Amino acid sequence: MKRIKFHDRKKEIKEIMNILDTEPSLITFIYGPINSGKTTMISHLIEQLPEDYAPFYINLRGRFITDYEDFLNVLFEIDEKGVVDNVTEYARSMLNDLGTVSGIPIPVNLFEQIFEKKDKSKDMFKYIEQFFTEISKNRVPVLIIDELQVIGDLKIDGLLIYKLFNFFIRLTKELHLCHIFAVSSDSLFIEQVYSEAMLQGRSRHLLVDDFNKVDTMDFLNKHNFSDKEKELTWNCCGGKPICLVELANAKMNGKDIESEAKMLVKIRTSQILSIFDEISLGKVEHSEKDIIEEFKNFEKEEIIQYARVNERKIFLVGRNVLFIDPVQRTIKPQSKLNLLAIREVINSE
Ligand SMILES: Nc1ncnc2c1ncn2[C@@H]1O[C@H](COP(=O)(O)OP(=O)(O)OP(=O)(O)O)[C@@H](O)[C@H]1O
Ligand SMILES: [Mg+2]
Repeated sequence: MKRIKFHDRKKEIKEIMNILDTEPSLITFIYGPINSGKTTMISHLIEQLPEDYAPFYINLRGRFITDYEDFLNVLFEIDEKGVVDNVTEYARSMLNDLGTVSGIPIPVNLFEQIFEKKDKSKDMFKYIEQFFTEISKNRVPVLIIDELQVIGDLKIDGLLIYKLFNFFIRLTKELHLCHIFAVSSDSLFIEQVYSEAMLQGRSRHLLVDDFNKVDTMDFLNKHNFSDKEKELTWNCCGGKPICLVELANAKMNGKDIESEAKMLVKIRTSQILSIFDEISLGKVEHSEKDIIEEFKNFEKEEIIQYARVNERKIFLVGRNVLFIDPVQRTIKPQSKLNLLAIREVINSE
């Protein structure tokens, strides 16, 4: 099987390494349009991290989390091997054996103890704090939670996410114990988090966007695209990594880049048109005219600055047609394909 190699993310990785180089003090939110390469970049970074860091990567994507039981099961990696009563001792014994863990290791008996408690969050946070305190004597713990929005609405004695944010603030700003990265592809979630009072002055935001033109050309050069194919690819897909990988694979398989790229635009256009089908069927509360009105913002522009969001914009962000960046206060289509599809829809009016 031919595999596409990881392509340069020097700027973003440097920024993260600078953060990792200093004492943990803020929660870092990593955000960006869908399929911009956030998870790939984080996975690459974890593989490259020097030995003095201990990364714990938890991906909530596709995890069906409806209660604490589910949450504890994804947060922790249960160690069935032995019974250990002392967290410090356990953390010490794990130090040389961490590798890349996909959860915070916990001996099965301590996990069960947390499970039995009434206030599970208190005990769960206490365990993690003790575990990281011990680990931090030798290595710097780095906790990364991907797709954090999955638990955005989870309510158990109040919203879990608030308890989690409070705990993250404790681990970073107060104890300087652990780096925290929260990744999300849900720009509405990031938009809500951004205006969250409890996180102000306690978090920073890092954008991982599609590749810019230089990096895109660099990628396509590596895959022997001709000048014509490069221009065509950029004009259809911009720097969206997933599309570039798809076209690079098509190229390797001797397919025609032009027809492949045009097919991607056609598919995206029909996906956007299906929103209008839903409107006709009364499944969407916005009118066709309102949606077209929003689309018209992108008739000439690729990105707009917003003063206030409205329901229609939020709807289109929720449908992953538009991407909202609350830090820059900009809105743009989620991808070049979306931009082209939006323009096709306006022109077919
Ligand atoms: N730096 C890169 N080099 C090569 N390929 C990449 C790179 N970044 C992303 N890709 C390709 O794009 C695909 C999508 O990337 P990824 O899943 O990391 O995006 P994401 O931003 O995490 O998406 P989501 O918004 O769904 O969370 C990957 O499966 C990979 O094939
Ligand atoms: Mg991802």
